[in-house]
Amino acid sequence: MTSRISKTFPLAVSLALWAPMALGHGDTAPQAVDTTGLPELPAEMASENPWREADGAVLFKAVEIGAKGFNSNCARCHGLEAISGGLAPDLRFLEASDFGDEWYLDRILHGYEQNGAVKMPPFEGILNQQAIWAIRTYIETRPDADELAAQGTEIAALHDKVKALPPDAGADEAQALAAELESAGSGFEALSGAPRAVTVLDQAAHMLRSGASHAPAAAELIHGVLRK
Ligand code: HEC
Repeated sequence: MTSRISKTFPLAVSLALWAPMALGHGDTAPQAVDTTGLPELPAEMASENPWREADGAVLFKAVEIGAKGFNSNCARCHGLEAISGGLAPDLRFLEASDFGDEWYLDRILHGYEQNGAVKMPPFEGILNQQAIWAIRTYIETRPDADELAAQGTEIAALHDKVKALPPDAGADEAQALAAELESAGSGFEALSGAPRAVTVLDQAAHMLRSGASHAPAAAELIHGVLRK
């Protein structure tokens, strides 16, 4: 009898671990992504990320939309914030190069099957070209989460400053704080080798650039990395 229990137990444990992965998010079917706000792309699929060198508004929009697309379609296998829990490869390390793009495009369009079992569903026809490259941009701009965590004290102090900024503060004050956030954010590199990482500090700075009224949302965003 004991041998039967010891054989059954690991199965029960692995089922218990799998169940939340498979069912927990509820959105297991691939989902279209709203790409409003991103520039149009030509009808033909690009073979390289068109936004790798993008600056300012386009880059931040791509990261914002890419994060949503990633969370609703990829995170359940590839991990929240693209940090793999071991079920599927850690995409943060996929090289930001034309070779990496080719590999990315092949997988996202066609998925992956092994011995007749779908290991990754195809997203062709579900995600439009903008969504595909926005997700790519999000993935390749991920900083090293451990490095970010190591700067926790500094980030917490910046969070408090942003939170304390009155929403009706003058433009000068908002711009100065944005510059401070940018300077702190510039210390992080992308794990993929992309030209730059986009951290919540950079995103918060970008929000403050359009005015102090965005301070509460920017503070909330920074707070997200402090909770871990
Ligand atoms: C049902 C689980 C699942 C989902 C959902 C999923 N993937 Fe995957 N993905 C996998 C597995 C498993 C592999 C490994 C396949 C292989 O051996 O090449 C993989 C491989 C990849 C690769 C190749 C990585 C490498 O290093 O070789 C890329 C790129 C990729 N996935 C992107 C995505 C993106 C982007 C999404 C969301 C739009 C997504 N995947 C959704 C399971 C999934």
